[in-house]
Amino acid sequence: MSDIASLPTGSRQRQGSNIGQPMTRRDGILKVTGSATYAADNNPEGLMHAVLATATIARGKVTRLDVEAARAHPGVVEVMTPENRPPLATDPDEKTNPFAFRLDALQNDGVRYAGQPIAVVVAKTLEAAVEGAALLRPSYETEAARVDLEGESFVAEIVGPGAPGRAASGDFDAAFASAAKHIEATYDTPPQYHNAMEPHSIVVRWEGDSLSIDMPTQGLAMAVGRTAELFGISPEKIHIRSPFLGGGFGSKGLAAGPQVLGILAAKLVGAPVKLVLTRQQMYGPVGHRGQTRQTVKLGMGEDGRLAAIEHHTLTSTSRFDDFLEPASNVTHSLYAAPAIRTTHAGSRIDIGTPMFMRAPGEAPGSAALESAIDEAAFAAGMDPLDFRLLNYAEVEPISGKPFSSKALRECYERGAARFGWSKRPQAPRSMRDGEGRLLGWGVGTATFPAIMFQAEARAVIRADGSGLMEIGAHDMGQGAWTALHQIAADGLGLSMDEVEFRSGSSDLPNAGIAGGSGHTATAGTALHGAGEDVIARLTELAVNDEASPLYGAGNVGVVARNGRLVRQDDESRGEPYAAILKRAGLAEIEGRGQSAADPAAQERYAMDAHGAVFAEVAVDPNLGQIRVTRLVGAFAAGRVINPRMVESQYYGGMIWGLSFALHEEAVHDKRTGRIMNANLAEYRVPVNADVPSLEAILVHEDDPHVNALGVKGVGEIGITGTVGAIANAIWHATGVRVRRFPIGLADLL
Ligand code: MOS
Repeated sequence: MSDIASLPTGSRQRQGSNIGQPMTRRDGILKVTGSATYAADNNPEGLMHAVLATATIARGKVTRLDVEAARAHPGVVEVMTPENRPPLATDPDEKTNPFAFRLDALQNDGVRYAGQPIAVVVAKTLEAAVEGAALLRPSYETEAARVDLEGESFVAEIVGPGAPGRAASGDFDAAFASAAKHIEATYDTPPQYHNAMEPHSIVVRWEGDSLSIDMPTQGLAMAVGRTAELFGISPEKIHIRSPFLGGGFGSKGLAAGPQVLGILAAKLVGAPVKLVLTRQQMYGPVGHRGQTRQTVKLGMGEDGRLAAIEHHTLTSTSRFDDFLEPASNVTHSLYAAPAIRTTHAGSRIDIGTPMFMRAPGEAPGSAALESAIDEAAFAAGMDPLDFRLLNYAEVEPISGKPFSSKALRECYERGAARFGWSKRPQAPRSMRDGEGRLLGWGVGTATFPAIMFQAEARAVIRADGSGLMEIGAHDMGQGAWTALHQIAADGLGLSMDEVEFRSGSSDLPNAGIAGGSGHTATAGTALHGAGEDVIARLTELAVNDEASPLYGAGNVGVVARNGRLVRQDDESRGEPYAAILKRAGLAEIEGRGQSAADPAAQERYAMDAHGAVFAEVAVDPNLGQIRVTRLVGAFAAGRVINPRMVESQYYGGMIWGLSFALHEEAVHDKRTGRIMNANLAEYRVPVNADVPSLEAILVHEDDPHVNALGVKGVGEIGITGTVGAIANAIWHATGVRVRRFPIGLADLL
């Protein structure tokens, strides 16, 4: 047998017919007909309902719960408190790794934020559980809580869970001091909550010491690992199904405290348990985006060329764990300047621990930086787009590394042309629409890193020539069922209908995490590799088999085409997969693929997606009411697997940006530490009437370095350019520079 690695697989030449096609979502019909099964739609035999009781103080401890009153309710089966909750093998406050965030799992009577779970009521019906929770009437010993950024802070050495909190290139102090012109501005962004449409939920059943779980997760393997660690059971004994998520936005990346409580409750009552958070209960124990106060300093020459950039972020984290929004780090890659310095500070306040949320770091970071760049352009007397082009980063400024690919110039050009940017008057308050409203145009640069996680995939070709691809990937609504199936089919040289695609379950190969906008790149690369591997194995059978028309064709190369292996130099010569397997007497043949970030490529290149967003706003001069009337985004993010879905991701990202700029803000009551608008009526998100005409332009980009498919991420980049573009358009409309988000009419009057 010849060495498999030495056989040409032909994959480079194989013409995929699925990748690049605008397929509609394969799960779309299930979803619009209500027949897609989300976690909370599962109702195993003997199911009981668990409901959380949550703290109404932000700091202190629970001194009394009327457990007897709750137990006396006829429908209530059990009340779980710190006194009777089953033991965990690992302390939920133990930091076993940087991604193991401390969880509130009734480990004691302490309260460390408003909304923290303090008991779980299990009942035969949901109604009885809700009533039981209300009967607990907790008493507290209350300590003074702080929920704003005004108190003491600390230097943050690590931000997010793993990035350095400080970086520098050049001598910022000297370069800033000697610059001809200076901009210094401070921007505030509020706490924001993910508010995925589907609340966090779990349906869980213990089978002996094995766990059968339905719950939405963006990271099946990580959720299994954390659950195994907490419950002291081996990962093989845990099966999590997560075929569909009603959004996640980062809040479903890691196992959440309430889901752990669901598992504990099922153990306590010895029955399957369903626990679903209410909308209000999502404000606390499942993460949020911390508030930030960012100061940007820009020094530039008379000609507008940047000489020095400093970006400092003060951000909130909880009293008991560290997740610091890495907002300053966007300044590492966006604009060229000989001196750059970024720093972060943290402030411990009485809130739940912040978490990854919709472009963590880049979203608030670029809101501040893009506003400051606009302020600098005006100070330099330049058009904001010309200013950005003058300070275009040809290499990553902080490191000097070349970009693996960067089509940002094309994004600026195509976006500007489509928007009509060349007609923009320089001075603010110089355009009106037919209704007398002030019109303004703004631009923002979008960027997001191209991230890869570790993943594996399995490919099979069966005796009948059909294929199977398996990967435990996650469809949050972004279209993974479809885009990954397209990649799987091309990897096998088959049509999508000829390939069964299994996903969304933890008993399938680890797909990493659907986060960091890296899921298609990660899972797609593993699937692509699995396809190459199985085709190589099949090729080996054929070229070594005297009865095959491909016998001895190993040197000329063999490629997979429409269910056949064919000679690369003459595609009419070959044979179907089924014939090869039949002669070999095999029922199927299997291949495996992996993906991971390539450290050598990362060492050499900066890898980011880029874009440019152009916004038009109309502002009522008397009422200050702001409407975004147009958004045009042009994005370059490597290979496009499915243009329909990529476009849809960009629309979603731009709507998040609009939401950040004008709507979202969690408001704390400073006296109690409670969130006053923990609901979708008062925590504002955009509705259709708020969303204008959107256009997304997909700019072609080949990237030979990011991964075998050349795919970057498209999930989060849309928010990054949009916030600044809208803020800058509001300034252009009104001449008022608002430096706090969300921007509202009160800021303009
Ligand atoms: Mo996202 S915040 O990368 O799930």
